[in-house]
Amino acid sequence: MASSLNKLRISTKLLQNSNYFETIPQRFGSSWFTHVEMGPPDAILGITEAYKKDTNPKKINLGVGAYRDDNGNPFVLPSVLAADRQVCDACLNKEYAPISGTPEFCKAAIKLALGDDSKALDRVATVQSISGTGALRIGNAFFSKFFKSKDLYMPTPTWGNHVPLATHSLLTPKQYKYYNPNNCSLDFAGLCENLSQLPEHSLVLLHACAHNPTGVDPNLEQWKELSQLIKKKKLFPYFDMAYQGFASGDIVKDAAAVRLFINDGHLIALCQSFAKNMGLYGERVGAFSIVGESPEEAARILSQLKILIRPMYSNPPIHGARIVTTILTDKKLYQQWLGDVKTMADRIINCREQLKSNLKKIGSKHNWDHITDQIGMFCYTGMKPDQVERLTKDYSIYLTKDGRISMAGVTSKNVEYLANAMHEVTK
Ligand SMILES: Cc1ncc(COP(=O)(O)O)c(C=O)c1O
Repeated sequence: MASSLNKLRISTKLLQNSNYFETIPQRFGSSWFTHVEMGPPDAILGITEAYKKDTNPKKINLGVGAYRDDNGNPFVLPSVLAADRQVCDACLNKEYAPISGTPEFCKAAIKLALGDDSKALDRVATVQSISGTGALRIGNAFFSKFFKSKDLYMPTPTWGNHVPLATHSLLTPKQYKYYNPNNCSLDFAGLCENLSQLPEHSLVLLHACAHNPTGVDPNLEQWKELSQLIKKKKLFPYFDMAYQGFASGDIVKDAAAVRLFINDGHLIALCQSFAKNMGLYGERVGAFSIVGESPEEAARILSQLKILIRPMYSNPPIHGARIVTTILTDKKLYQQWLGDVKTMADRIINCREQLKSNLKKIGSKHNWDHITDQIGMFCYTGMKPDQVERLTKDYSIYLTKDGRISMAGVTSKNVEYLANAMHEVTK
């Protein structure tokens, strides 16, 4: 009794100290909610809203984090369409999934990340999540409860949602160096220096591939060094892998960092998303895993993950997970899907080349090598906020203020217009 009272006191104190939960005034005026202020629009989704209102026929939306085909349209992967039909034809019931999702889905998802022959598969706790965001939410809740340090170190810059996801779980977001804006590439020395200064037993969030927003990843040799450093400094690697296959077109290559850490003997946490690599954005399918020391430890962790999930959303949605399971467990569909992933990645890689060559062709004197050196959905162009503003105002090209463009919004039809506009504002 005394111990649960103590726990209650501690969590109440944490709530009081966090910025997330503001002091709530008593009722006054005619409503209970007069104190609720209008919040700002979401930085990224707000861009799409502004884009929709623009009547310029040449407008381009480079804010959206979803793949588009060369006509600028959303793309349903043929393998996903086929799996979807198969699932519907099976006329399965619509009963609740278990709290942790279906075991077949969890097994297939973690195998995709670690590899079929990974030695860690028998000591991993995997739960289905509401896509990658939900995986992070579950992971953060777990660490908030079971990890001694409440600091979560993340790269600068990082995906915008990482920070509120941390504070939501009462973790404190902290930063480590990652990106060098002077040459638009990895600040490997700064990254290593920062990591080596972290307190022992810190939690370190790592983008497994296709770093968002920079598109800058460590190469394999650098990952090897990072793995050794993280081990030496006794840090805990917490991988966010939202783009497996989407970066290079090869699911094995994109999982190289995660698999390397496992082979080096790390215990890891891993967030997966099937939004991008299967185009299942709205189906919200993902997974959260922790690789433990033993099967027995994994079972204990799994039991606690279920306890955390139950009051959050009880159990995950079933349809998208059935599509993913069908693709990952049917040899023919799996091969087709690998081809679909490559089609998407190759189009993006091709657009990067086209954008760079168009900039050169029209006489830009800047070094745009980073457009093709970077990888994945996003390109961190290095354009400054005033240049971004001009792109939007004068050319109806919409992107985030940090100069990040979604390569998915670039097509063979608009790349010349985009290159010309980028050249004009960066002259
Ligand atoms: C780095 C990173 N992590 C996680 C996510 C989660 O995406 P979702 O919740 O749509 O799977 C994204 C999506 O943009 C991302 O870029």
